[in-house]
Amino acid sequence: MSFQETLTNEEKLADLDVDQLKKLVGLVEYDESGDEFPVTGWDAIVFVVGNATQAAHYYQSAWGMELEAYSGPEHGNRDHKAFVLRSGSIRFVLKGAVDPDSELVAHHTRHGDGVVDIALEVPDVDKCIAQAKKVGATVLVEPHDETDEHGTIRIGAIATYGETRHTLIDRSRYNGPYLPGYVARSSTFVKRDGAPKRLFQALDHIVGNVELGKMDEWVGFYNKVMGFTNMAEFIGDDIATDYSALMSKVVANGNHRVKFPLNEPAISTHKSQIDEYLDFYRGPGAQHLALATNDILATVDALRAEGVDFLDTPDSYYSDPELRERIGQVRVPIEELQKRGILVDRDEDGYLLQIFTKPLGDRPTVFFELIERHGSLGFGKGNFKALFVALEREQARRGNL
Ligand SMILES: [Fe+2]
Repeated sequence: MSFQETLTNEEKLADLDVDQLKKLVGLVEYDESGDEFPVTGWDAIVFVVGNATQAAHYYQSAWGMELEAYSGPEHGNRDHKAFVLRSGSIRFVLKGAVDPDSELVAHHTRHGDGVVDIALEVPDVDKCIAQAKKVGATVLVEPHDETDEHGTIRIGAIATYGETRHTLIDRSRYNGPYLPGYVARSSTFVKRDGAPKRLFQALDHIVGNVELGKMDEWVGFYNKVMGFTNMAEFIGDDIATDYSALMSKVVANGNHRVKFPLNEPAISTHKSQIDEYLDFYRGPGAQHLALATNDILATVDALRAEGVDFLDTPDSYYSDPELRERIGQVRVPIEELQKRGILVDRDEDGYLLQIFTKPLGDRPTVFFELIERHGSLGFGKGNFKALFVALEREQARRGNL
């Protein structure tokens, strides 16, 4: 199978090519024929939010996403409203309860705004579910067809950490706007003059926070159930106890489109940021989504102009001689990064630029990262110390340290 053939429909629609994707998200060539649980890539990230109507506006106005589909009471869905938004090759679906007895209300009461479903595109739903069953994973939805005038999807779902699931979708026989039950809808929000076409092109990784002692269990889940392999980056005791108070390992699917770092809290002198998340999310869940951009400076400028808040980076981060030495040359002067609070990390393959937003909702739980890769396939391990100094300052402000 050639690289070109491995481009997903979403990527083709977003005018992305293989070279861009190699750079953006570290796509690698991969033969899926021997894979018991082949995964093509992300299908959609589904959020439950307290007010989807307003959140849909925020993701269009601040994050430059395009509305492309909708489901709600006007079209027979009396339970909830759902807005499907796109940027580049990735879809977000925002769901908010309409019916006060909707299951989404109870979910939102427990967890607040958050990710309920990391849906993945797979070539063979039945094969994946069969493999999941064989190794003892929890199947939430048996494989079945759903059909409307746009064709048929094959769909199933398995459980992952907390109340998060992976819906598995084969949409090769479907050309509707999202799923049966949804209608096409385009943005009524008008972008500002001169606004960039889009602020991010793809999704790079989603980090899961799990309980103390559970990281290896979930790494094992992704290894055993989904055939994901461990990537090199590993945050162990050395960094964990002094600065980050977390441990982390990363698993990825065969083509590396889908990457899941998994964090657990580390024992530390004060409450870790992972513990704070677990308290406020009431259990394990998705901590952050890393959005890939090919121009992080322009993206951050546009987001700041719309009022998106980022974590502060201490000035000392940029003047630290050891860090400067390690970073070497990057595509812009360090001062340009400092102005925006963008972090740099480097490894043997290259470097990456990254920055983290403050929590997206009211609870100190889910947030976004922006990432611009230049060869590095890491996740910013070298920034952990600097980052966690900044994070802990925020945590102290909220009185949770
Ligand atoms: Fe990340």
